[in-house]
Amino acid sequence: MEELEEKRMTTISRLFEEKKTSWWDVFDASEIGRERKIIASRYIAPNSEVLDVGCGRGFFSFACSRRASHVTALDLMNGKGRTGWWDEFLQTAALLKMTRRVSGIRAGAAHLPLEGGSFDAVTSVHAIRNFEEADELELFISESARVLKRGGRFVLAESDFESNGFRAYKEFYAMRIKIGWEMRIPPSREIVSILRKNGFSKIRQTILDLRLKYAPVYFPLGQAKLKGLAKRYSHAKRLLIEEGEQHPPVSVITALR
Ligand SMILES: C[S@@+](CC[C@H](N)C(=O)[O-])C[C@H]1O[C@@H](n2cnc3c(N)ncnc32)[C@H](O)[C@@H]1O
Repeated sequence: MEELEEKRMTTISRLFEEKKTSWWDVFDASEIGRERKIIASRYIAPNSEVLDVGCGRGFFSFACSRRASHVTALDLMNGKGRTGWWDEFLQTAALLKMTRRVSGIRAGAAHLPLEGGSFDAVTSVHAIRNFEEADELELFISESARVLKRGGRFVLAESDFESNGFRAYKEFYAMRIKIGWEMRIPPSREIVSILRKNGFSKIRQTILDLRLKYAPVYFPLGQAKLKGLAKRYSHAKRLLIEEGEQHPPVSVITALR
C-alpha cells in the first residue's frame, strides 16, 4: 500500500511542478480551504497562542496563522499514507513567509512534549479519524487539559457522520476504514463525556453545514478489488452519481479549561 501511495504522490508532484502550483494553491482555491478558514475565524481569538494537533500538511494551522500570535503545529508524520506531508508543511510555511508564526513538531497527540498551561487554544481538525490506538483520544484530551491555560479553549472539528443522509460519503468512509486508511470517529457523546471527565466546562457542539462541494472521496478501485470491496465500491459510485457528492456537515465541539 505504501508503494502505491509513493507512486500516487510522485505523479501528483510532477503535475504540480508542470503547472507551477502548490498545496497552498489547492487550499486557497478550494472548499477544503474555505472550511478551515471559516472554522478559524469562528473559534480562534485574535493574538492567541494555538496548538494544532494532527496538522497534516498544515491546512488548518495556516488558516489560523493570520489571527493567532503563534501556531504550534504537531503531527506524528509517520508516513502512513502521508508521504512527503512534512516537507509540504515546511514549503507552505516558507511560501507564506510564516516560518516565525508557525512552527512544527513531530510528536503524538497522546504525549504532548510541551509545557503545561502554555496555550490559549488546542485545536484538532479532521485528525482524530486517523488516531490508531483505542485510548489515544482520551490521552489527547487529558494532555490538552494540561497544556491549556486556565480559560483556554479546546476545539475539535470532524465530519459529522451522525446526521442523516450523505450515504455515498459514509459508504466511502466505511471502505476507507476497511482498508486501514481511516480509523473510527467516536460518537460526539463519547467525546463530550471524556471532556467532562477531564474537567472541561461549557462544552458545546455546533453542526456547521457549509454545503461543501468536495471532490468525491479518494478511493482506488485496485484497493477495493484486493479487499473484496468491488461490489460496495460500485454501489457507492452509483450513489455518488445518483445523489451528487456533498460533504457532510462539520461537527465542532468546543470546551473551556
Ligand atoms: C486528515 S489529516 C490532517 C488534517 C489537517 N488537520 C487539515 O486541516 O487539513 C490527519 C493527520 O492526523 C495525524 N495523526 C494521526 N494520529 C496522530 C497522533 N496520534 N498524533 C498526532 N497526529 C496524528 C496524521 O499523521 C495526519 O497527518
